[in-house]
Amino acid sequence: MAYENIIFEKEGNVGIIKFNRPKALNAINSEMMVELGDALDRIEGDSSIKVLVLTGEGDKSFVAGADIAHMSSLPPLQLRKFSMDGQSLFFRLENLSIPAIACVNGFALGGGCEIAMACDFIYASEKAKFGQPEITLGLIPGFGGTQRLPRQVGKAMAKELCMTGEIISAQQAKEIGLVNKVFPAEELWDATIKTAQSIAAKGRVSMSGIKKCIDRGFDLDLRAGCNVEADNFGYCAVSPDGKEGMTAFLEKRKPDFKGELF
Ligand code: CAA
Repeated sequence: MAYENIIFEKEGNVGIIKFNRPKALNAINSEMMVELGDALDRIEGDSSIKVLVLTGEGDKSFVAGADIAHMSSLPPLQLRKFSMDGQSLFFRLENLSIPAIACVNGFALGGGCEIAMACDFIYASEKAKFGQPEITLGLIPGFGGTQRLPRQVGKAMAKELCMTGEIISAQQAKEIGLVNKVFPAEELWDATIKTAQSIAAKGRVSMSGIKKCIDRGFDLDLRAGCNVEADNFGYCAVSPDGKEGMTAFLEKRKPDFKGELF
């Protein structure tokens, strides 16, 4: 499939998706969602990609939300489907076996904030802005924001952001735990790629184990979450990467992880 609304490229072992509708501040329409789904298929089928970075084309916006013109043109019964399609897509992103980093270079509003939250963590430029402003449109977040935001920043803060529609700075987003790190705009990309490459150099099997344990365990009670961890620990420890990592340590050399299953 040829893409018009996203750019998909690879830099070494790092897959890169750029939202590419800069004239509309990279707002998400149905075409962009189809293309994003196709790119996720390609990523899942390409074992050379070990980490994914998502960012916005242009210097102003990551994604300024769902496309309001597009939403307002949809027949009423299609709007629930639009919400469910976005939710399914973001679940797929969240459930990729490889880590995904949101590199937020500008506005991450509404659906844009929701995409970023479906990634494993967020790096942001000092110029980035975050928010769930749907209330100002007479709407509510529709791509998982009412669910992921409270899990990320707590119920009261999520309610305040969704109820006021307030747009906050990258620094404020870091203070509430939405963003991991904030960089000067000109340093954001290099810093993100450096972290992506560091993750890509680690073992694929244990990386996927960490994702599974933290994501699945988070909604479980402590004991059930620890059971998920023990299962994954046992699996990683007997995998070729686990054996290689421990042997390399004992032989005082760098591990050569192959990412093989059994
Ligand atoms: N949908 C469609 N078009 C959008 C858009 C969006 N979400 N956000 C921006 N644009 C378009 C504008 O209409 C404008 O297009 P034209 O040049 O053709 O008029 C262009 O992008 C540039 O935008 P502005 O001129 O408004 O730029 P600005 O710098 O003055 O303001 C902004 C930037 C504060 C982000 C403002 O554009 C804005 O408030 N955008 C809407 C943000 C929003 O409400 N997002 C939530 C959408 S609903 C949602 O996401 C629901 C969901 O969860 C599923």
